[in-house]
Amino acid sequence: MPIDFAAKKAQFHLPEGVVYLDGNSLGPMVNTVPARVDAAVRNEWGEMLIRGWNHAGWMAQPRMLGDRIARLIGAEAGTVVLGDTLSIKVYQALASALDLNPKRRVILSDTGNFPSDLYMAEGLCRTLGGQYRLKTVAPEEVMSAIDESVAVVMLTEVDYRTGRRHHMADITRRAHELGALTVWDLAHSAGAIPVDLVGARADFAVGCTYKYLNSGPGGPAFIYVAPRHADAARPALSGWLGHEAPFAFDLSYRPGQGIERMRVGTPPVLQMAALEAALEIWEDVDLHEVHAQSLRLQDQFIKGVESRAPMLQLATPRSHLMRGSQVSFRHPEGYAIMQALIAEGVIGDFRAPDILRFGFTPLYVDEDDVARAVNVLTRILDYGTWDRPEFKQRAAVT
Ligand SMILES: Cc1ncc(COP(=O)(O)O)c(C=O)c1O
Repeated sequence: MPIDFAAKKAQFHLPEGVVYLDGNSLGPMVNTVPARVDAAVRNEWGEMLIRGWNHAGWMAQPRMLGDRIARLIGAEAGTVVLGDTLSIKVYQALASALDLNPKRRVILSDTGNFPSDLYMAEGLCRTLGGQYRLKTVAPEEVMSAIDESVAVVMLTEVDYRTGRRHHMADITRRAHELGALTVWDLAHSAGAIPVDLVGARADFAVGCTYKYLNSGPGGPAFIYVAPRHADAARPALSGWLGHEAPFAFDLSYRPGQGIERMRVGTPPVLQMAALEAALEIWEDVDLHEVHAQSLRLQDQFIKGVESRAPMLQLATPRSHLMRGSQVSFRHPEGYAIMQALIAEGVIGDFRAPDILRFGFTPLYVDEDDVARAVNVLTRILDYGTWDRPEFKQRAAVT
């Protein structure tokens, strides 16, 4: 059955008068979340107290929800676990991948990768004593830069700024041919586009849940380890909940079975409750259909903006095959333009130096929203209403 997008939209809480084009940064709230979180607070924490760990399934949640996310990213059951932040999961995946390829010293990434991924790699190189090196190339050059010195290719599948999408299967194949492993960051993929980790033979993958999976601000991240590596991958962050027997309280670490070893410490139970409710949205959803509809909305937006606001320059590839779920335009005054848009209820965001980002998630964005976004944006540009001091005042989060 085709997705009833209008019915899906009704399952989200969207403030009156808002067109929300920023689910690529923070997904909106699913209507069932407050009641589920309230129950977790009152009935589980409030009434069960410490007994909640056993009786409310808190300890099993990171794996149980991991299995639900696994279905959305083309992963096998039992290969995904939740916890911590995405930056931490990047570090873990990268450290284990390097350890599995011990003769090599180069981490290959691209200049479009999210800075935190690159910072984590730099920090890991330092911790490993400086023999390791992070090499970054332009996104288009990744394929040709993979050679026999590369230990790990670490990429974000969909570029957070331009929305450009790497070809996961081709890059992974090339990496494997030349003896490298892959770490894929799915922050802008999970819940946005069809992902097939098994089909692509990805080695490790990580992602967050607060964007397209709508777990709310600070929601837990996830990590995937291919089953062929799961019992060989050595965790760099060897916390007690990744131990084979956490409640044996042994003095030395023994890694848990398979993906369990990628757990670190106490999971964020209340945030997991929010995620559990939010994931119900996905029960009957085919991501091919979601992405196809997103591309239609993106095309509508690109066409409208290019015909009426030629001063904006498209930063996203035109090819559907190279697109995720967002469209970006460049303008030197992008920050002020975005603030003026937000003041009119059309919410996107800005990424330095000059990128206006717009996310098109068809589960809660429709053609009328896109038409309104185009109208408001062109009016702001036509009348120059962005050119006010209050719109140029940079906030901490852009
Ligand atoms: C691609 C990518 N990687 C990593 C991160 C960092 O995630 P976190 O703040 O959860 O560690 C983000 C955050 O937006 C991201 O977009």
